[in-house]
Amino acid sequence: MPSINEQPIPAARPVIGEEEIEAAVRVLRTGRVVQGPEVAAFEEGFSELVDGRHCVAVNSGTSALHLLLMALNIGPGDEVIVPSFSFAASANAVRLVGADVVFVDIEADSFNIDPAAVEAAITPRTAAIMPVHIYGNPAAMDKIMAIADKRKLAVVEDACQAHAAALNGTPVGAFGSGGTFSFYPTKNMHSLEGGMISTADAETARTLRLLRNQGMEQRYANEIVGANMRMTDVAAAVGRVQLAKLHGWTETRIANAAYLSANITAPNVVTPVVAEGARHIYHQYTIRVKGGEGARDAAMAQLTEAGVGNAVYYPTPIHRLKPYWEPDQKAGRNWDLPETEKAAAEVVSLPVHPSLTQNDLERIVTAVNALGENL
Ligand SMILES: Cc1ncc(COP(=O)(O)O)c(C=O)c1O
Repeated sequence: MPSINEQPIPAARPVIGEEEIEAAVRVLRTGRVVQGPEVAAFEEGFSELVDGRHCVAVNSGTSALHLLLMALNIGPGDEVIVPSFSFAASANAVRLVGADVVFVDIEADSFNIDPAAVEAAITPRTAAIMPVHIYGNPAAMDKIMAIADKRKLAVVEDACQAHAAALNGTPVGAFGSGGTFSFYPTKNMHSLEGGMISTADAETARTLRLLRNQGMEQRYANEIVGANMRMTDVAAAVGRVQLAKLHGWTETRIANAAYLSANITAPNVVTPVVAEGARHIYHQYTIRVKGGEGARDAAMAQLTEAGVGNAVYYPTPIHRLKPYWEPDQKAGRNWDLPETEKAAAEVVSLPVHPSLTQNDLERIVTAVNALGENL
């Protein structure tokens, strides 16, 4: 039990501070709140995180994925290779454009899409590969890009959890045909709600700008069929404040994770594994609890009892969710994803956010190391 003066440590702590509030109010007072100069400035600022690629802001990470797939002309008859160990939005975007999702397994260490599984899943209908940089840990983009380049496939990086993660010095979102980011409040930075698409291709960027705004560059001169997925200037103003703090927050997350990994010694707990050359930005600090779902769930109950917030991302792999499972069952399609199933039964994420104090970190370590004795 936490002592009377010790509050539970939350699993995540979104920041809406005075600066964010002032930025939002400043825009509200101008009376011009729809997409405008703040959005343009946010796009320009964010572009520095993705090696200067074009950036297009939208109203969510899901919209970012959806529009990027549309801009790449992916639709009915196409297949997109997606890891099942992700948030449903990754696969939903594929289904929303009418393409088919082909689920593949993950690597045990990184929790990211397995390049060998990607290669084995390619068919004549494959149009794109969607690596998800899960938890903020970059996928094996060197291998994925080599596979995609050989077959001339598009690569849609789902970097919704991975702002400023990198592999061998290249930031995520700067490898593929395009990358997508989420600014949902619990992400490493937020804009209340929001998303960003990065792409190296000016023509794709222009198409994305049209698609988010009913197909219009000039008002009422619609060029293509588009949606309204614009970001507001209020959201962008908040996003700009957060963007300025992202670097410091990320360094603190990395330091918090290093402390946890150096001090967690429970024998049945596996701390995150980071590949050589990878910059993991710890959107989540996710451990495995050995012993299956029962042991993991018991561990979560003990952590909660000790006042340590915790959560499972994600308890049900996407292929087992109803909108995917039912049609696959009907079609007699069974995905063989043993590492995905195992991860879903073993993972639990611990607090790693930049608001943690040294005392919080010590409490987390003590609670995790006590698990060994009790499971
Ligand atoms: C991996 C992944 N993809 C896509 C999304 C969708 O982002 P949003 O919630 O901003 O629509 C999220 C965010 O929750 C995510 O974690």
